[in-house]
Amino acid sequence: MTINSKRSHYSNQLDEKTIGKHVTVGGWVEDIRDIGKIIFMIIRDITGPMQVVINQDDFSQAREIPRQSSILISGLVQSSKAKGKRVEIKLENIISIFPAQHPLPIDPTGRVESSIDKRIDSRALDLRNPQVSKVFLIRSKALEVIRRTLSDNHFIEVNTPKIIGSASEGGSNLFSFDYFKKIAFLAQSPQLYKEQLILALDRVFEIAPYFRAENSNTVRHLTEFQSVDIEAAFVDYHEIMDIMEETIKNIIKELTNSNLVNIDKNETIKSVLQSKIPELTYKECIQELNSNGEKIEYGDDLSDSSLRKLGQSHPGFYFITEWPLKLKPFYIHEKEDDEFLSNSFDLQVGYLELISGGTRQHNPNKIRKRLQEQGLNPQSFSEHLKTFEWGMPPHSGCGLGLDRLLMVLTNSINIRDVVLYPRDPIRLTP
Ligand code: 4AD
Ligand code: MG
Repeated sequence: MTINSKRSHYSNQLDEKTIGKHVTVGGWVEDIRDIGKIIFMIIRDITGPMQVVINQDDFSQAREIPRQSSILISGLVQSSKAKGKRVEIKLENIISIFPAQHPLPIDPTGRVESSIDKRIDSRALDLRNPQVSKVFLIRSKALEVIRRTLSDNHFIEVNTPKIIGSASEGGSNLFSFDYFKKIAFLAQSPQLYKEQLILALDRVFEIAPYFRAENSNTVRHLTEFQSVDIEAAFVDYHEIMDIMEETIKNIIKELTNSNLVNIDKNETIKSVLQSKIPELTYKECIQELNSNGEKIEYGDDLSDSSLRKLGQSHPGFYFITEWPLKLKPFYIHEKEDDEFLSNSFDLQVGYLELISGGTRQHNPNKIRKRLQEQGLNPQSFSEHLKTFEWGMPPHSGCGLGLDRLLMVLTNSINIRDVVLYPRDPIRLTP
């Protein structure tokens, strides 16, 4: 046996069928219990904990191994009398140990709680806490289901540049930097590219970071976050709403089937499976807010306090549709029979905005006019607008904030809990 010995089993592969087999397992030492002649060591790998039984006459030095060291061992699987365990490993050989230095910055077993800031400072260690790693298993599974559902709906996955020469969402919150003596920006979204790509590819999606230079220090804003963007030709915004609803329902079903979430402990995601996501128009929201005493006028944006009020009476998933056009970006289409309004939607969960989307304006002259109204220079968008002369069909799409969806799926209050290495106005490391 050498350091190059291959691991034969993960923790969750050790069951009654492996009793009597010699196995090699690896992981991190979570606990050592010394009861005299016998030492019990708990080793955890990504799939769970395993108990190793050590005869002190053979390996008395085992009790000196610092907790959280990585260890590769071999041994014989035997049935276990320990509570909750069917099998354990009788140690035969310690192949390698890479000791952990103490004191560790945080306790990754979670027995001693640390603040989210301290945990992120030591994220690689924090992830050994199974409650933390589970969030990222959920995230990975959600991404898998998103890709499958969109691909089943004939969407093609694309990758568009994140270093760009002009704004995609308007001017205000762009990160800019020196690019070989020119000014370049970090993409706020793939909005313009995805609209161009439907000219030939028909339906596209991208899962990629957005960058927003917003000095928002809240539990739901980051300066770099992941979005799931979709765009489709010959489709209106209601069809986009249906596709996103199907995607979210598939995610919840699959997370439930794979025991990653327990919907009985999360009423918000349980209720979304039971019926169609309800739809409120912007106008209905204003009426509801006014009747609850909120001072807001038809045409005003829904402020944080308005959204929190709405969230109290609508704690689950709901769409807000038909927003005033002036509140929406330049690429959104007006409502045909009421040009004050637009063919747009947001998907909310309580107060939290999860998705923005809509039918796009496909008439380039109307886009130029709206750019001007919003104080943007149509000239800077000429590269984009020229493509509208090549047979731009009616089209619609949306952007889903993946990190916010993860907050909902994992019942987390802080977006930093569901992002491995969050970036906010204060944090640039690790
Ligand atoms: O609402 P946004 O700005 O919409 C767009 O960028 C459009 N291009 C989408 C479209 O296709 N029409 O951003 C989309 C979503 C939001 O609904 C929200 O979930 C998330 O991205 N989001 C943020 N997530 C974390 N931190 C931030 N600072 C966010 N800003 C938006
Ligand atoms: Mg939005």
